[in-house]
Amino acid sequence: RGPALSRRSLIAGVAGAAGLGVGATAIARSADSAGASVHGGDVIEFYGEHQAGVTTPPTAHVNYIGFDLAADSERQAREALAGILRVWTEDAARLTRGAPALADSEPELARVPARLTVTVGLGPGSFTRTGLEGRRPRWLHPLPAYPIDRLDERRWPQTDLLLQICSDDPITVAHATRVLTSNVAGRIRLRWVQRGFRNARGSQDEKVTMRNLMGQVDGTVNLGPGDFDTLVWDDGGEQPWFAGGTSMVLRRIAMDLDRWQELDPASQELTVGRRLSDGAPLSGGGEHDDPDFDKLVDGLPAIPASSHIARARHRTPAEQFLRRGYNYDDPPEPGPDGVLPISNSGLLFAAYQRDVDTQFAPVQARLAEHDALNEWTTPIGSGVYAILPGARRGQALGQSLLA
Ligand code: HEM
Repeated sequence: RGPALSRRSLIAGVAGAAGLGVGATAIARSADSAGASVHGGDVIEFYGEHQAGVTTPPTAHVNYIGFDLAADSERQAREALAGILRVWTEDAARLTRGAPALADSEPELARVPARLTVTVGLGPGSFTRTGLEGRRPRWLHPLPAYPIDRLDERRWPQTDLLLQICSDDPITVAHATRVLTSNVAGRIRLRWVQRGFRNARGSQDEKVTMRNLMGQVDGTVNLGPGDFDTLVWDDGGEQPWFAGGTSMVLRRIAMDLDRWQELDPASQELTVGRRLSDGAPLSGGGEHDDPDFDKLVDGLPAIPASSHIARARHRTPAEQFLRRGYNYDDPPEPGPDGVLPISNSGLLFAAYQRDVDTQFAPVQARLAEHDALNEWTTPIGSGVYAILPGARRGQALGQSLLA
């Protein structure tokens, strides 16, 4: 053991040397005077018919965390799954309301939920490895192999379990990630953490659509509350235990920003079919006006048929889903030659729908066949998950599955 430090010497030495005492006072005061613009206490209810984090407003930060079940036998895997879901339910219910988790080594970090949501999804392995195959939703299987895919199965594999942790405060996300992971450590193997962000809360009006790192306004055409019951939430028709759940497709899509920046702005706009300045369709009007795919300019379509929005637009009402993606901008990783690229950025594309096969897959197949944007974007990770129905107070997530 080193020499004991006195409280006085710690305070005097550290605060004196770094001027921290003065800084801390200034921070406390500015938070006070900010008043209404402090959002740390905002709470999104954890319990309910549906899990939060799907149709609730996207927060500034996310961690998607992929785990596999660490178990040898079917019986062990099923017990592990039941135990994990009990712990996650209990801890998430507490953390999301700003209370420490049951075994929380840093309870002080739990005080600022900042709209924390914890959303739990099951991959195909949670059913096949536990003897619950008969209860697996029909669409819960890996997506078909698309010709555009360059999936790094070692780095970003499909996993048995998914945690989606969203909050406006990255410290809250880090703390919830650590607590929820360490409290089930013996039962899981961590495979990956995918960290994402949108605009900081308060940096612009909440109604303004996010931009992705290619600079485009991203998220204009999306489902709204009137669509959620028919297109997002499951009604239990196929698997009664799943009523109130939904499906999630998570695609990690790398952007080649170095080559994208070589393209002139007019060509960048033709690639997507929308204006960079405000996200309005190239056929005219404002951001939320309908694109006119028949409009010609100088004899040529204003919105090219090969553009992202022309290809992605639903051809039947069934081909629709909720997009709720986040940007990623990770530290560059050296290539095979040891050289660091300038950036390691892209989109954590997340889509939620009742049925992956009939809603998402046809659109993805069309984009994989042709989409002008494909020249600069590459899917490198892919996963499909059953987002469990919400838990009622006193119940655990997945109770209807494991009953
Ligand atoms: C629309 C970007 C991947 C489906 C858009 C828009 C942008 C965009 C800028 C126009 C604004 C809007 O309505 O949100 C991107 C980027 C991607 C990507 C940068 C990859 C890095 C995907 C994927 C899918 C998809 C993988 C589905 C498989 C859609 C749909 C629309 C859309 C359905 C709305 C089309 C409409 O009806 O107007 N995307 N997107 N996108 N995107 Fe993507």
